[in-house]
Amino acid sequence: MTRRAIDLAEAGRGRVSPSPLVGCVVVSNDGEIVGEGAYIFSEVTHAEIYALNEAGERARGGTAYVSLEPHAHHGRTPPCTEALIKAGIKRVVCPMEDPNPLVSGKGFQELESAGIEVVRGILKDVAEKQNEKFICWHRNRRPFVHLKSAMSVDGRVATKTGDSKWITSASARQYGQQLRYEYDAILVGADTVRADDPALTDRTGKPRDRDLLRVVLDSSLRTDPGSRVVSTAPEHPTLFVAGSEGESKAEEIRGSGAEVAVIQGGPRNVSVVLDELYTRQITSVIVEGGPSVAGSFVESGLVDKFTFFLAPKIIGGEAAPAAIGGEGPSALTEAIGLRDMTFELVGPDLMITAYPSE
Ligand SMILES: NC(=O)c1ccc[n+]([C@@H]2O[C@H](COP(=O)([O-])OP(=O)(O)OC[C@H]3O[C@@H](n4cnc5c(N)ncnc54)[C@H](OP(=O)(O)O)[C@@H]3O)[C@@H](O)[C@H]2O)c1
Repeated sequence: MTRRAIDLAEAGRGRVSPSPLVGCVVVSNDGEIVGEGAYIFSEVTHAEIYALNEAGERARGGTAYVSLEPHAHHGRTPPCTEALIKAGIKRVVCPMEDPNPLVSGKGFQELESAGIEVVRGILKDVAEKQNEKFICWHRNRRPFVHLKSAMSVDGRVATKTGDSKWITSASARQYGQQLRYEYDAILVGADTVRADDPALTDRTGKPRDRDLLRVVLDSSLRTDPGSRVVSTAPEHPTLFVAGSEGESKAEEIRGSGAEVAVIQGGPRNVSVVLDELYTRQITSVIVEGGPSVAGSFVESGLVDKFTFFLAPKIIGGEAAPAAIGGEGPSALTEAIGLRDMTFELVGPDLMITAYPSE
C-alpha cells in the first residue's frame, strides 16, 4: 500500500514545486481502500485531506499510508496531522521524514503523542528518490542540479564546426522535453545560445504551475539581443546571470523583458549562481550545456544527477567538443564515479541515467 501511495504522488510530478510530491491511501479497519489522494500545488489541498474526505467515517480505526511525513504546522493549509487524528486514524505508515528542518520529525511526534502507531521506513529509498529535488533543496539549500547531454557514442556534442542539430533522434529529444517539464529552470552557457539559438522552452504542452525559467550564464551579456531567448523573453521568463563586466549591457537586456542578475565574481562561480536561483525559490534546474558550463558544474561537485543520450553514431576528430569540458583530472582515481546507473533505449538512442558516487 505504501507503493500505491508513492504511485499516486506521481500525479503531481511537475506540478508541486516548491513543495514535495505526496500521495496518500486510507485503508479501513476491515482492509478496504476507502480513500486516495495526491497533492498538486495549485489545488492547495493536501493528499491526506483528499483521501480522508473520500473515506469519510470509514477512516475511523483505519490506516493511512502517506508517501511523506504528514506536516504538523500551519502553512497554506491546516496541519494534516490534526486531520488524521480527528478522522480517528489508528496507524500511519510512512516511508520518510519531511527533510524540511522546520518540519522534520514533528509530524510523527504529534501523531504518536495522540496514540497513533507510526510505521516508518518502508520503501524509504523509493520515496526519497521520488522527492530528490525537494530533499536537495532543503538539505543543501540550493536547487537540485540535473545535467543532461546528447552525444555520439564517442562522447562528442557537436562536430568540429559546431554542427549539433541533431545528434540524437526525435524520440530522445521528446524525452528531453519531458525532463524539462519536471524542472523549475533550464540553464545553458552563452556559447550554446550563440551557436544554436535555442528556444529553451517546455514544449510538452502539459499544464505547469510555474513557468520554466530560462537561465543563461553570460558574464559580459554578449548575447545577441536578436537571439530567440532574448526576443521571446516577454512570453517565457528569462534570467541572464552576469558579472560586473556585463553591467553596461544590463539595461538593454532588461528592456527586452528578461531579468539580469549581476552576481559577485560572475557566473563562472556556479555555487553563487545556485545561491541566486535558491533566493528565487528555484528548487531544481536542468543544465543543458554546453560542455564548458557542464564542466563547471561537474568540477564544482554540483551535479546531483546525470542523463546522457548516446546516439548510434561516431563523430570523432580532435576538434569536436566532448560532453564535459573544464580542466579534467590528472589521475583516473580523481574521475567522478557514478552509481545507480540505469540504461534505456529511447528510439535508437541509449539513455544513461546515473548519480555521482558520494
Ligand atoms: N549535444 C548537446 O547536448 C549540446 C547541448 C548544448 C550545447 N551543445 C553544443 O555545445 C557548444 C557550445 O558549448 P560551449 O562549451 O562552447 O559553450 P557553453 O558552455 O554553452 O557556454 C560557455 C560560455 O558561457 C559563459 N559562462 C558563464 N558562466 C560559465 C560557467 N560557470 N562555466 C562555463 N562557462 C560559463 C562563458 O562565456 P563568458 O565568459 O563570456 O561568460 C563561456 O565562454 C555548441 O556547439 C552547442 O551546439 C551541445
